Amino acid sequence: MDTAGSQIILSIRDVTKSFPGVRALNGVSIDVRRGMVHGVVGENGAGKSTLMKILSGVYKKDTGTIVFDGKTIDHTTPYESMHRGLAIIYQELNLVNSMSVGENIFLGRFKEMKGMRGTHAKARELLDSIGCKVSTTKLVSELSVSTKQMVEISKALSFQSKLIIMDEPSTSLTGEEMSLLVKIIHQLKAQGISIIYISHKLEEIFDFCDVVTVMRDGNVIDTKPRGEFTRDELITKMVGRTIENEYPERSRQVGETLMEVKGINTRKLHDVSFTLRKGEILGLVGLVGAGRTETVRAIFGADRVRGHKVTIGGKPVTIHNPKQAKDAGLGLIPEDRKLQGLVLPFSVEQNISMASIDRFTRFGFLIKSLEKGIGARHVKSLGIKTPNTKVAIKNLSGGNQQKCIVGRWMEIGPSIFIMDEPTKGIDVGAKYEIYLLMKEIAEKGGAVILISSELPEVLNMSNRVLTIYDGRITGEFDPEHIPADVIMRAALGLGGAS
Ligand SMILES: Nc1ncnc2c1ncn2[C@@H]1O[C@H](COP(=O)(O)OP(=O)(O)OP(=O)(O)O)[C@@H](O)[C@H]1O
Ligand SMILES: [Mg+2]
Repeated sequence: MDTAGSQIILSIRDVTKSFPGVRALNGVSIDVRRGMVHGVVGENGAGKSTLMKILSGVYKKDTGTIVFDGKTIDHTTPYESMHRGLAIIYQELNLVNSMSVGENIFLGRFKEMKGMRGTHAKARELLDSIGCKVSTTKLVSELSVSTKQMVEISKALSFQSKLIIMDEPSTSLTGEEMSLLVKIIHQLKAQGISIIYISHKLEEIFDFCDVVTVMRDGNVIDTKPRGEFTRDELITKMVGRTIENEYPERSRQVGETLMEVKGINTRKLHDVSFTLRKGEILGLVGLVGAGRTETVRAIFGADRVRGHKVTIGGKPVTIHNPKQAKDAGLGLIPEDRKLQGLVLPFSVEQNISMASIDRFTRFGFLIKSLEKGIGARHVKSLGIKTPNTKVAIKNLSGGNQQKCIVGRWMEIGPSIFIMDEPTKGIDVGAKYEIYLLMKEIAEKGGAVILISSELPEVLNMSNRVLTIYDGRITGEFDPEHIPADVIMRAALGLGGAS
């Protein structure tokens, strides 16, 4: 595709932005052309979201110029930029949960729409135009992440947006939902709308972006048509060094049974039973919604499930809540970290140490220094990007917040570590660090249960995988010797025959 010919819709020149202790953007210049999908990649904390928040008026730039659609934008507000035709769909979506779909799309504009009837009718039209069938009267709180995104896109279209920014839109989408999003992206493009697409999934970047910008430490390292980047070059430019392998070598010290789970039955799960061995990384492969998360939540006592049996080290254990799970030596990195893990106003060190420090509460005055020590250790070992450990965790980039949750559990040191999508939103370099940690836990005689929607990740990290389809275990495989498509067939419920 001719990526140079079309007109420039957005020109960013020498934009800088500092926060206390961090230079988030350091003279960034990017041109975005009309009707192009412009991918932006870079490590956690590279400055991607900060730049987008400046464009949309959430943050003010310190210096630099921004020209959008022929006009110089100095200080803008989210409201103004929306009206100017620049829409953003945030990493953490931004709809009003207690209002309906239609109300969200035309929030503050009901009068223009001639009341609620007009609002819903116009909303229907917009949703239909992108093939979204959700009722306009449904409450946003009842929608899936994917449908929420469709509502956000419809909202952007209602403002006749010329540029739509999508900040990691795919992290929580199923394969099918992702195909729909790609279809919509192509459709928007055909209408001459430009898209800035931020993602850590390089497949997506190579699949449908026309141009790619790589950012690192607040700088633009390179911008080129996608076809001129190789995967290796892109990774090298993102992390600033060559990465030899994306996965460490598989650990090979699988020993005796460490945990046995028998007969988990819920509305969704049917007689889920399996064993986990010492030194093993066990992958659970299945579609989103197949029952992977329900299985591990049942074991961890996070959902009220009774009747199944768990033995650890040959001894029966009772786990009815997460505290009992923790006492039995289990750890869980949940899928939805925003809801289940982080305390946003608390500091980085408090967030990392809070689960392990209750062992020391008798020594109140010691807590502060303990917190600090624990926090500092994990910030270092996981390469968490933060000015210091006292900063509120809400100020960290999405991926760095997630590393803090990993650090919290590393500190508790469970012997059985359940990781549900542990690398969601994590950059390629940091992924490798998390893989090494998994391997270390296994090699020290513990074990890991890994759930991941990224098939290469589970297949390369696991010693053994179980496929789950529609709440049932449909197969057990050695991923080193069984081809991926055979495993995938079992995960899709297609049985053994091929
Ligand atoms: N409100 C804020 N206050 C203080 N520091 C901030 C704030 N927002 C961002 N930062 C810092 O600016 C830097 C860039 O963060 P940003 O969120 O832009 O990264 P990112 O590239 O989007 O990363 P990720 O891939 O993890 O989402 C980080 O060091 C972050 O801690
Ligand atoms: Mg971000």
